Order: sequence, then structure tokens, then C-alpha cells
Amino acid sequence: SGSPVRVLITGAAGQIAYSLIPLVAKGEVFGQQQEVILHLLDIQPMLGVLNGVVMEISDCAFPLLRDVVATADVEAAFKDIDYAFLVGAMPRREGMERKDLLRANVGIFKVQGGALDKLAKKDVKVLVVGNPANTNALICSKYAPSIPKENITAMTRLDQNRALAQIADHVKSQVQNVRKLIIWGNHSNTQFPDARFVEVQKDNSWSSITKIQHDEKFLKEQLIPIVQKRGAEVIAARKLSSAMSAAQAAADHMRDWFHGTKKDDWISMAVVSKGEYGVPQGLVFSFPVTVENRQWKIVPDLPIDDFAREKIQITTKELEEERQEAQAATESQ
Ligand code: NAI
Repeated sequence: SGSPVRVLITGAAGQIAYSLIPLVAKGEVFGQQQEVILHLLDIQPMLGVLNGVVMEISDCAFPLLRDVVATADVEAAFKDIDYAFLVGAMPRREGMERKDLLRANVGIFKVQGGALDKLAKKDVKVLVVGNPANTNALICSKYAPSIPKENITAMTRLDQNRALAQIADHVKSQVQNVRKLIIWGNHSNTQFPDARFVEVQKDNSWSSITKIQHDEKFLKEQLIPIVQKRGAEVIAARKLSSAMSAAQAAADHMRDWFHGTKKDDWISMAVVSKGEYGVPQGLVFSFPVTVENRQWKIVPDLPIDDFAREKIQITTKELEEERQEAQAATESQ
């Protein structure tokens, strides 16, 4: 078991954190042998609420939980951390322009990148959940030059999970019998859920979804908008944004990064591009990856047809625009 790992969760008084904290504290991410110390960061006005969360954590009596640091002080929160879930972000309020949202978040992730650089372990592994997640990760990385760019990722796992569940439902199977779905690009409605390589397990053998259910209409015309719009659908129904499923996805992302991916499968993570699949260098872009020894690797040489190329270009263009706007915002701060 060894020494406990220090795990930071920001936005710790918020909705997603409320579902994520128990997953981390129960060993669902780092395993049942690994003790954890939770670092919980939120902003000053939320400290009262955060204190309530700390009381509940205590009342859960989690056996693997060694200690809790709950604070509004960025430096205390980032000190010596091994893993970080950056969930806290400026929410989009009514009437707020995308640019204003981006500017506010650039401010937050510039400060947190600086804190990572100065205070975290040098091999810290970071998952950005707070939106706009891909571009927040890019900014964070820019201000943490001493942390390898590979260690700062953003979350598209919720989109992956949503798509897998939809496909399982469509082929009347279960999620564990569906694999090799890809989310390309931005965690936004330009993302491209790509089901071309999906395999479905039946009677202990895996075969291509196109063989099992030759249903281009579902894969191209229905699945993509369902996944792209699922977040909005949950908000409309729940009057709050996805939190349980977002927390589960965050736990899945970090667990697979920590323990590795399954044989003959891949997952989607937004990671720094080195130009793979024509994606401009430096963008934080969701790709299919495999993980071994806590290092991800982009799945190489997948064929990209005209349909896929067009979809990948759309989401690439949006991420380039976000990068430009974010850069303009950092210069004005
Ligand atoms: P929430 O509003 O319930 O909680 C956010 C918390 O972050 C609040 O307690 C707030 O005070 C805190 N916060 C704000 N600025 C902070 C800062 N500078 N440092 C530390 N904490 C700060 O929101 P919820 O539902 O927990 O969602 C959090 C974020 O996750 C949002 O940006 C949301 O858009 C995003 N999200 C991303 C998903 C993804 O798939 N990548 C899926 C679902 C949500």
C-alpha cells in the first residue's frame, strides 16, 4: 500500500464534487489498497458549505481516507498533490457571452496552473472537468511549464459513457459488451462521437457493429446529436447539470489513467496534440488512447474517411478559436 496519495478536488462545495468525493474516498479510483488524503478547494464564500461537506465525509467513516485539507487558499490546496480533479470553474450565467465565460476561466486556470507549477509533485496527473474543459487545460498547462504537458488532460469520458450506453441500448445489449467508441475533439456540441470502429460482444466473441447491425442511419444521424445534446437534455429535466454522471466519468478517466486500459480496448481522453490525425500541435483534443504504466498513447493509424474528416475539422476549428480567444484574454489580464 505505501504512502497515501494527495488528491485535490476543486469546486469541492459543488455538485460534481459531492458525487466524486465518495468515489475517491472509497477506493473506486486509486484502488482498495491505496490510502488517500483529500485536498478540497473552493472559493471563500463557499467555505461554510464546504465545511458541511467535510462533516459528511467524517460521518462516512471511509477506511481509506487518511486526512482532509479543506481550504479556500490555492497554495495550501496545491501543495504536494499527486492527482488533481479541477472541477471548479466559473459557471455560465444567463446573458453571458462565451467570450466572457472564457475570460473568467482563463483567470482561474492561470492561477491554478501557476500553483501546480510551484507546489504540486512534478509527476502530478491532472484532469480538468470545469468548462470549457479542453481550453482550461491548455491554459493551465501554459502556466505550469515544469509539469509535463502529457500530465494535464481534460474530460470527454462522460461523452464516451453516454455514447456507449446509447449504443448498448440500441443493440439490446449492455455497456460492458460495447467497446472502441471514440470521442474526437472538444467537450462541447462540436465533439464527434465516432462509432465506426465500435465492436459488440455476443456469445463471447467481439464483432464490428456494422456487421451486427448495419445501421448507418443510427450511427451517423441519431447517435451523434443525442450525445452532443445530452447535457442540455439533463439540465432541462433535472434543472441542474449532470453531476452524478460527470463524477462517475471523472472517476473512470482517472482510474484508467492510474490502472491502465483493458486489452483490446481504448478510451477517450482530451490530451495535448503533437499533430496526430492532423490536429494542430498544442491543442488539448480528445483522442482514442490506450494507457500503460500511467502513460497514455494515442491509438495510431485509424482510417479517417471524408465524413470523419469533416467532423474532426469542425471541432478542431472551434478549439483553435477558443485557443485564440484564451490567448487574447491572458494578454489582457
Ligand atoms: P457547481 O456550480 O455545483 O460547483 C462548482 C463549484 O466550483 C462551486 O462550489 C464554486 O464555488 C466552485 N468554484 C468556482 N470557482 C472556483 C475556483 N476558482 N476555485 C475553486 N472552486 C471554484 O458546478 P458543477 O455541477 O459541480 O460543475 C462544475 C464544472 O464542471 C462546470 O464548469 C461544468 O460546466 C463542468 N462540467 C463538465 C463536464 C465534462 O464532461 N467535462 C460535465 C459536467 C459538468
